[in-house]
Amino acid sequence: MEGFIRALPKIELHLHIEGTLKPEMMLELAKRNQVSIPYQTIADVRAAYAFSDLSAFYALYSLGVSVLKTEQDFYDLTWAYIERCKEEHVLHTEISFDPQLHTRRGVAFGTVVNGISRALQEGCSTLEITSRLIMCFQRDLSQEEALETLQQAMPYKDSIIAVGLDSSEPGNPPDKFAQVFEKARQAGFLTVAHAGEDGPVDNIWHVLEQLQVARIDHGVRCSDDEKLVEHLVSKRIPLTVCPLSNVRLGVFSAMNEHNIADLLERGVCVTINSDDPAFFDGYMIDNFMAVANAFKLSKKDMANFSSNAIEASFLTSDEKAALR
Ligand code: ADE
Ligand code: ZN
Repeated sequence: MEGFIRALPKIELHLHIEGTLKPEMMLELAKRNQVSIPYQTIADVRAAYAFSDLSAFYALYSLGVSVLKTEQDFYDLTWAYIERCKEEHVLHTEISFDPQLHTRRGVAFGTVVNGISRALQEGCSTLEITSRLIMCFQRDLSQEEALETLQQAMPYKDSIIAVGLDSSEPGNPPDKFAQVFEKARQAGFLTVAHAGEDGPVDNIWHVLEQLQVARIDHGVRCSDDEKLVEHLVSKRIPLTVCPLSNVRLGVFSAMNEHNIADLLERGVCVTINSDDPAFFDGYMIDNFMAVANAFKLSKKDMANFSSNAIEASFLTSDEKAALR
């Protein structure tokens, strides 16, 4: 199975570029940019990654990104991920970034987007890895701040395909962002949102109804509502599931408790993704292997995760056809 998964063409749809910042690069950039962080060694950084829920993870994640300052930093971060895609036979990736993590500490929006976009373009021209870029709003911040961020994104509309919504769900329901999502749709952005990860199943209904998202990031709490699962199946609404992340953040107590195999069998358009691979110790192959090892899935089942991801991607129909 491992050889099969390695060789399988893979598509990643749920990846936070800031979540690819490895301890080695964090320390290197802290030195290069003279940013003070509370870690001296790789072992210090690893020891700090003792989070067990999303809020604790998010606090560390926000601190780590303070080492990213220049366009070159964002390029280097993204390029390292693209090289990993090449190694893992990931042919297409739709990556998210969190502009508010950077603009709040004085890094210009354009610095972030230009650095990421340059690496993505180079990934396409030199390594033939195609990509799309998704801008996430942080749901723990206000809608006013999200509206400001949308405004900052307007000059970069050609580089950003969709807007999304991330960070911790409790206390931050989807309707808080109804207006900014509507404005984003009017401006031509597609929409996605994290829902049903550390929040209730109702959040999944609400991102569909109130934010009109094209697909759902995580969405694993859908199993709490039979009608919702039927709706996802009949409408082919994709879920971008992140198995290792879910276990690491306590969404499921162990991989064999995860519902991904059940959802696949029931006909939900589920996909496998890595979320924040540097933090959850696993890129795409690790996530595919973890699922294959925990459940009795066939090679055809594993290939279905990839064909679902092609279907769920924001590629054009010609580009999708070329991947099939
Ligand atoms: N941002 C980065 N990773 C995230 C996750 N797993 N859930 C919500 N927001 C995130
Ligand atoms: Zn995520």
